[in-house]
Amino acid sequence: MSKRFYITTAINYVNGQPHLGHAYEEVVTDVIARARRSLGQEVFFLTGLDEHGQKVQQAAQAEGKSPQVYCDELAADWKAFTQKLELTNDDFVRTTEPRHKEFVQAILAKLHAAGQFYKETYEGWYSAREETFLTDKDRRPDGTFDPAYGEVVKLQETNYWFKLREHQQWLIDYLEANPDFVQPDHRRNEVLGFLKNNELEDLCISRPKARLNWGIPLPFDADYVTYVWFDALVNYISIPAAHGDPAINSALRTPHSALELWPADLHIIGKDILKFHAVYWPIMLKAMGLPLPKQILAHGWWQKDGAKISKSTGNIVDPIAVINEWGLDAFRFYVVRELDIGPDGNWTDAGFRSRYQAELANGLGNLINRSLSMLKRYRNGVVPARADELAPDANKVIADTRALLEQNQLQAALLAIWSLVTRANQYVDQTKPFSLAKDPTQAKRLDEVLYNLAETCRVLAVLLWPFIPNSATKIYGQLGLSEAPEKFSGANWGGLQPGHSIGEPAPLFPRKEV
Ligand code: MSP
Repeated sequence: MSKRFYITTAINYVNGQPHLGHAYEEVVTDVIARARRSLGQEVFFLTGLDEHGQKVQQAAQAEGKSPQVYCDELAADWKAFTQKLELTNDDFVRTTEPRHKEFVQAILAKLHAAGQFYKETYEGWYSAREETFLTDKDRRPDGTFDPAYGEVVKLQETNYWFKLREHQQWLIDYLEANPDFVQPDHRRNEVLGFLKNNELEDLCISRPKARLNWGIPLPFDADYVTYVWFDALVNYISIPAAHGDPAINSALRTPHSALELWPADLHIIGKDILKFHAVYWPIMLKAMGLPLPKQILAHGWWQKDGAKISKSTGNIVDPIAVINEWGLDAFRFYVVRELDIGPDGNWTDAGFRSRYQAELANGLGNLINRSLSMLKRYRNGVVPARADELAPDANKVIADTRALLEQNQLQAALLAIWSLVTRANQYVDQTKPFSLAKDPTQAKRLDEVLYNLAETCRVLAVLLWPFIPNSATKIYGQLGLSEAPEKFSGANWGGLQPGHSIGEPAPLFPRKEV
């Protein structure tokens, strides 16, 4: 067995219900995972929940529940959410699971024994909301701290610290030698700029139980729990280890079997947690003697109506409500089509509706429906002889889409695919099959047009499968094909066999009155 393409999302804090930002990250990751499988790779897609730390402890307290009960209840909602999005994740991690906790403790014990930690009393500023120590360097020009930190208090505390400083130059060199390690480029430059202009502070990896007890106990000091980020980042290797990954288990000298996952191929994260993934995580891995992930891909943040998404102001998009009203594929399509992986985006209900109407209902949906309905009406649903007029257009889009999917350029891939939708819709308008059908001398020409259209619909189903799997499957069903359009190799022009009978056409994206 060979190494799988291993792709992860950030693990979500379980302190509320999923919103658009979480859904976006999950959908993007799922599209990449499906695309890789379609292209023939074996994939392992991991997502899950970050359940420890102050945010979760406080949220549980506010509801008068024990943290574990609180997490168990919410975890059920989050798991249901992955099903609502029809994610193809291969595992779902909860950081309160024994398989994760035991692994974190093994890592901590190993690093402690290797002298990577030291204990020291620190006096400084602390943001309880962000669970982080701050220094004067974190102050804004007017001397205050960013309101995102909430209340910042003076704190004196003895803790364990992880030595980061000595790895600073190594990390700069690594980032410079491996331009793909952090993407997009401007995010890589942000990390490099930070590393070149600041001396790295060591990382506090413990919290005294007296102040915060909802965490993984340090294996070498019973008075402390593990800092939540040290715990959370380790999920990316604790789960491979639980599946027997040889790279991790041999580094830790524990038994291993055959599921090869590490190093991860792709960590998909939001821009706000870049420093944790591009600075702390590589240094943690280096200290453990493990190879680094191949790429960290940071996406932007969604706003709604030009303002921050926020539970407290009620400015949210509830993905479940959108999916219930418009269908899952409309939601998946919209978020990937609207926002490239990198920049920030803005959700407006009007923008969503107009893409639905123009691109799904009038674009793709109309093409499929009229192509198959005409084949049904004029040829009783029987595929005519092969004809290749649209083959050059289709072949170009197939090649472009493959190249874009290999580079995780999802929005660009959708644009390429839509150029074929548009071309085929124009082809209907130009060739006018409804007029050809009235003229018996044009029967052969009508056959050609109908074949080109039906085969283009089939190719589109294959190309679209990673993005909108339900609609792609329905297109195949309407074409009377029993297999799923889940293998990219099936996109080759000419797959539809003359003499084959198609199924029943039905609208994919019903037009909605607005
Ligand atoms: N628990 C940490 C991640 C630990 S990873 C080892 C965390 N959780 S989170 O729930 O706050 O965020 C999870 C992911 O959702 C992050 O990648 C974050 O960037 C993303 N998003 C949260 N709000 C978002 C938007 N408004 N828009 C896009 N993504 C957003 O951070």
